[in-house]
Amino acid sequence: MAQEDVFKKLVAHCKEYGFVFPSSEIYDGLGAVYDYGQNGVELKNNIKKYWWDSMVLLHENVVGLDSAIFMHPTIWKASGHVDAFNDPLIDNRDSKKRYRADVLIEEQLAKYDEKVEKEIEKARKRFGESFDEKQFRETNLRVIENQGKRDKLHERFTQALNDGNLEDLRQIILDEEIVCPISGTRNWTDVRQFNLMFGTEMGSTADGALKVYLRPETAQGIFVNYLNVQKTGRMKIPFGIAQIGKAFRNEIVARQFIFRMREFEQMEMQYFVRPGSELEWFEKWKTTRMKWHKALGFGDDNYRFHEHEKLAHYANAAVDVEYKFPFGFKEVEGIHSRTDFDLSQHQQYSGKKIQYFDPELGESYVPYVIETSIGVDRMFLQVMSASYCEEEVGTEGKSDIRVVLKFPPALAPVKLAVLPLVKKDGLPEIAREIIDDLKFDFNCQYDEKDSIGKRYRRQDAIGTPFCVTVDHQTTEDQTVTIRFRDTMEQKRVAIGELRGIISGEVSMKKLFAKIV
Ligand code: GAP
Repeated sequence: MAQEDVFKKLVAHCKEYGFVFPSSEIYDGLGAVYDYGQNGVELKNNIKKYWWDSMVLLHENVVGLDSAIFMHPTIWKASGHVDAFNDPLIDNRDSKKRYRADVLIEEQLAKYDEKVEKEIEKARKRFGESFDEKQFRETNLRVIENQGKRDKLHERFTQALNDGNLEDLRQIILDEEIVCPISGTRNWTDVRQFNLMFGTEMGSTADGALKVYLRPETAQGIFVNYLNVQKTGRMKIPFGIAQIGKAFRNEIVARQFIFRMREFEQMEMQYFVRPGSELEWFEKWKTTRMKWHKALGFGDDNYRFHEHEKLAHYANAAVDVEYKFPFGFKEVEGIHSRTDFDLSQHQQYSGKKIQYFDPELGESYVPYVIETSIGVDRMFLQVMSASYCEEEVGTEGKSDIRVVLKFPPALAPVKLAVLPLVKKDGLPEIAREIIDDLKFDFNCQYDEKDSIGKRYRRQDAIGTPFCVTVDHQTTEDQTVTIRFRDTMEQKRVAIGELRGIISGEVSMKKLFAKIV
């Protein structure tokens, strides 16, 4: 199935099974804003728990914070967001559609990459075992030509971004003959900068009201609380502060479902270190974060690091963790070495000394910061994309397609469904007793409607790792059938064994064991 079709099916599935709904749907929706349904919120909470515990429980020097969304407006001046938090936008005059100029060029770069990869894959198949990729890259003319074009474009693009040269961004789009996907024309306007922050007013009268912003990142809440946490927690450098919370950006080009939203959630951690040690910590956090992703078992080849074309105004090193979504490799997480930029700026703008006295060095300094920043919603989309499967299965001699979400059990919204075979003979009562016994340990669901086969399919579609069927034999020997989602294997076990079997599989400890 084409990847585009997979993605369409995934979006439809999210809605049909209560994961994600368009916001304000009965009023025809609100662009790039989404609501999470009954299963979506459970999955989202599990993702957040996986992140939070991996930061705060696994690192004794990382503590949490929950700062307010509204903050003093000078914070955004100090952080550089008022002046520099912009996207370069370009319009196509024929379709009247607006695009991010940098994204159009990035897509062009990806096209060259794809051409090179295709040639390599073809050759790999042709030559089999004896294929030497390095030699092929160096000698195949088509590969050399496309790689050359890509490298030249990359260099020019990076230069234009670093210089803030909007005219050259436009010229690149023209020179590369990039067309609008809707109109198919190259009738482009100039490139303009557009600030992404949402502003509003706080206070009762228009005259006295204070212009405030909805935060575009949670990180600033951490920086302005650095002193509070360091002092009250008696934290010693290096230490980290982790926070999960909403962020808002007026994304003009919002596409690909929950990948780019106007209201979204971030999980950010700022790690405060001694100046000069930041690049070492940057490398350590890169490794730790990649392990966190890979522990979910979605395939190591589906991840890569991507170096930034242009460093943000606050960074001296930056890398993205990219995941292979159905629409290509895209950023899920950013890891930045933010120097002492933010704390120094807040020190200057607030007039308060924001420093750390290092007892080992006997001196005070403004700490340097390594940041790991991941979008909850993008992580949600990663988990969904990786878990969605359509499988051909034979039922009673007929072939059938089952849609199954093969979530890592620790992230699954519902861990266990208990299904009485029939709605009589005391079977529902036993099923309820099982749920009463297990509901404080696991999110359980009771279902007695339709055939067992249909009930299994419903649970597969929301990714429930275990189904337990209560039948007449249960009334005689206190055993049930447990069915495993991925293999569809069924086993007869005693009711008393259920807690042990399930907790072994759904515990986050299994994931944490892979990352410590
Ligand atoms: N504090 C640094 C920061 O905010 P960022 O790269 O702009 O860095 C970090 O954002 C992460 O937040 C991204 O990797 C992405 O997962 C998520 N994110 C950013 N903008 C988003 C949007 N419009 N919709 C959904 N997630 C977004």
